[in-house]
Amino acid sequence: MLVKNHNWKTNYTSTLQSEIDKIKDEGHYRVFNNIERKAGQYPKATRHNNGNQEEIDVWCSNDYLGMSQNRNVISAMQGAAEKLGAGSGGTRNISGTTNFHIQLEKEIAQLHKKERALAFNSGYSANESALKSIILAFDNCLVLSDELNHASLIEGIRASKKEKAIFKHNNVKHLKEILKGVDFSRPKIIVLESVYSMESDFAPLEDVIEVAQENGALIYLDEVHAVGLYGPNAAGIADEKGLAEHIDIINGTLAKAFGLAGGYIASTDTIIDFVRSFSKGFIFTTSMCPAVAAGSLESIKQVKNNKELRENFFENVNYVKKELRQSEIPFLDSGSHIIPVLIGDSKLCKEISDFLLNEHQVYVQPINYPTVPKGTERIRITPTPCHSQESTEKFVEALKDAWFKFMPRLVKFENQFINKTKAF
Ligand SMILES: Cc1ncc(COP(=O)(O)O)c(C=O)c1O
Repeated sequence: MLVKNHNWKTNYTSTLQSEIDKIKDEGHYRVFNNIERKAGQYPKATRHNNGNQEEIDVWCSNDYLGMSQNRNVISAMQGAAEKLGAGSGGTRNISGTTNFHIQLEKEIAQLHKKERALAFNSGYSANESALKSIILAFDNCLVLSDELNHASLIEGIRASKKEKAIFKHNNVKHLKEILKGVDFSRPKIIVLESVYSMESDFAPLEDVIEVAQENGALIYLDEVHAVGLYGPNAAGIADEKGLAEHIDIINGTLAKAFGLAGGYIASTDTIIDFVRSFSKGFIFTTSMCPAVAAGSLESIKQVKNNKELRENFFENVNYVKKELRQSEIPFLDSGSHIIPVLIGDSKLCKEISDFLLNEHQVYVQPINYPTVPKGTERIRITPTPCHSQESTEKFVEALKDAWFKFMPRLVKFENQFINKTKAF
């Protein structure tokens, strides 16, 4: 007979609840704000809060170019949904491959000047499942991974259960030391990102390629925060530096500069065919909605051909940096488009974010553990070409207000970070 209430089930619940309580105590329990962006008016959004609504400006979205609100992208999505329906209907193998998926993969391959590409439902699953299957293909494979790699890369590596060596962030000397004495013929894969989205810095790509060539290693490069923004073809840092041909597998997302959802890898015909055939995270999941594929295809075409949009983007990034410098608000400036302001304490980080939202109607979410190591909590500002001068001035004033209000509690962290991280 089936019984409704089981006392023993409370043990399971209390175990889970105690883990949740722990992160609440530590101050990094995540609160999801209900933020409804207004199509065509980005960065304006409506905040829904306890039955109230107010207009706010968003300053932390990864929709770097505002492409999620581009009229042509929206029309392409509408057109595809009208024509094919909403969902894809199955895995790629089970009627889930449409012309839009095929065209999108062709466009991505062209963008990165690679033979072929493969679309996934997210950049995360592209990394996790492609990396795992590639590593598993090689007996005795040694994986060399930057210590600040994204969780999706780490999970792909971990799931392979092969030997891994973690090199210090962007430290080619350390990478070389690890490789000293490792046989040239042993399979190796170096895994790194081109732009580190929390540190805002770039990988020393040319040096890494040199090390890879000297040691017979493949390179897997995550360009998630660079695609659509950098390089003459908007294909990322490898494109900007003219190094794409030396990168074996490029990973990207359709969810940030391209404004949609989904991820991909671009590589040789054989590597893509291999991943397509062996990667469980690709094989055993319903393919992306045709409307998402159609919108992504349109977005890549638009971004690639719209140099002015990308120039405006960097102009705005530099303008925000200039304003912050003038206001003496320290931030990490390693040259990329992301502007992290270090806080160094999870509770304080959340307090500052709430203060900005409640008192100034500007939204920058707290970045806490596990996204960044404990003690390096931060707010992360992402200007876009859609932020006007007026909106920027309002934002900088708000940040100044927060900075000086919370400064007395920030000082110890400020000193800790300024020397270490080239603040300004
Ligand atoms: C470096 C990096 N790689 C991969 C991903 C995953 O991309 P997606 O959001 O498309 O799943 C992210 C997401 O933020 C990321 O920052």
